Amino acid sequence: MRHLMTPLDFSVEELERLFDLAADIEREPSKYAHACDGKILATCFYEPSTRTRLSFESAMIQLGGQVLGFSDAGSSSATKGESVSDTIRMISCYSHICAMRHPKEGSAMVASMAASIPVINAGDGGHQHPTQTLTDLLTIRSLKGRLDNFTIGLCGDLKFGRTVHSLINALVRYDNVKFIFISPEELKVPDYIIEMLKEKNIPFEEVIRLEDVMPSLDLLYMTRVQRERFFNEQDYVRLKDFYILNKEKMDLAKEDMLVLHPLPRVNEISVEVDEDPRAAYFRQVQYGVYVRMALILTLLELA
Ligand code: CP
Repeated sequence: MRHLMTPLDFSVEELERLFDLAADIEREPSKYAHACDGKILATCFYEPSTRTRLSFESAMIQLGGQVLGFSDAGSSSATKGESVSDTIRMISCYSHICAMRHPKEGSAMVASMAASIPVINAGDGGHQHPTQTLTDLLTIRSLKGRLDNFTIGLCGDLKFGRTVHSLINALVRYDNVKFIFISPEELKVPDYIIEMLKEKNIPFEEVIRLEDVMPSLDLLYMTRVQRERFFNEQDYVRLKDFYILNKEKMDLAKEDMLVLHPLPRVNEISVEVDEDPRAAYFRQVQYGVYVRMALILTLLELA
């Protein structure tokens, strides 16, 4: 039985197979419409979500399976003090696979150790968000045709952003990927990631101004400054509009640069950018469904 805690749980070759399967699902969804007949997905979300929870549920329904779960810890027995380990033991009796989001780092890992079904980390605090990374990688592979030989700018909250941490971990395994980290001083990429890049001899730069690096980017990964990760409201208010991607900044970029964003967005991408053909963030959402369908099939050993 396999779980998914970080993108590194799959080798590059296994990811290729997963993305090939996702591409086949995109081409011919009817072939998979009954692949999960009789199977149940549990979505246990202790933290808010729109995309991740609903795309998992949509994925399972499109595979012919059914879904159950909770979208708010407040409506679960967590409010009575039940541990994640005990909860997943119950969920293992009710379902065949579980996607779990939790505000505490490591919670999905704790759940996986007590589970008798595959557990998917759907985001654990500021740590990892592997299925967002699978979504990001499939989007890049589908729209750029490759996962190597590019310069990617990651902009915004690089300190607490779990999507950023997961994506960097995944991209270091591909050839000739250069990182440009664009953030205010207070939201820089954590030291452990910088150390990892140095050890692996992966090229990277840290800058503050987005305008300065726009012309050199093949991909721009925008992120939200996350109010829920700040201890101090004043710091959040000071930093929340530090970056706003608008038409003027897009005019500085390459004609084939792509803008990605895990979403939700707040102010960091102006709505005028949505009409730009380089804005890929809503297409990214659709790829998230295909890749989660492929992941469910893979972890249930149905593909
Ligand atoms: N991208 C993402 O994780 O969105 P949600 O928080 O809405 O699931």
